[in-house]
Amino acid sequence: MAEEQRRARYLEALGIEQWVRRAMPAEVSEADTPAISLGESDWITLQACVRNCQRCSLHQTRTQTVFGVGDPAAQWMVVGEAPGVDEDRQGEPFVGAAGQLLNAMLAAIYLPRESVFIANVVKCRPPGNRDPRPEEVVQCLPYLHRQISLVRPLIILAFGRVAAQNLLNTETPIGKLRGRVHRSGALNTPIIVTYHPAYLLRNPGEKRKVWEDLKFARRIFVELSAKT
Ligand code: URA
Repeated sequence: MAEEQRRARYLEALGIEQWVRRAMPAEVSEADTPAISLGESDWITLQACVRNCQRCSLHQTRTQTVFGVGDPAAQWMVVGEAPGVDEDRQGEPFVGAAGQLLNAMLAAIYLPRESVFIANVVKCRPPGNRDPRPEEVVQCLPYLHRQISLVRPLIILAFGRVAAQNLLNTETPIGKLRGRVHRSGALNTPIIVTYHPAYLLRNPGEKRKVWEDLKFARRIFVELSAKT
């Protein structure tokens, strides 16, 4: 399939097929979490730490941990909330229905899934797909921070409230976090916030806002790339 046709399909999946496609333009807080000594851990050590983690009760109900997937030297990092039932079964983030939509969203801004690094705030499935609890997030967040330090992405896309609020260490509602570049933490990585694909599946009318956020992120990325 020709590249443009493929992209048109992705845009269609996003519900934005009627829109004019433009030419491609051009803090992570090291949270005060109870110390896990991840220090200078490399990928192998970090993966082993996550695989064996029993720091919260989610380990009792998981099938397996979901570490993250993608290019370990990616320029883009995608952060979601927590594994769902499909991810718990397959051991990979965003492989269910929300993942299909995520792939379409990424492709619409010229990002094949394999070209980014995808991780969640929480590495084990909360039972019944409930939101992760603060005490679970606090135990798990150091893993995400270490992943960010190892990937050193140029930009982070935070999908949904849990990712946005925990990366930015804020309780500000997601609607107020959209549309600007946040920076926080030791690496000062730019973070762009948008709605979670699972939310979009329930509220397709919000897809237009996400498309705006994705175009914004792409523009910021191009600007940042020009500076590096
Ligand atoms: N939702 C998420 O936030 N992450 C996943 O991996 C799957 C669904």
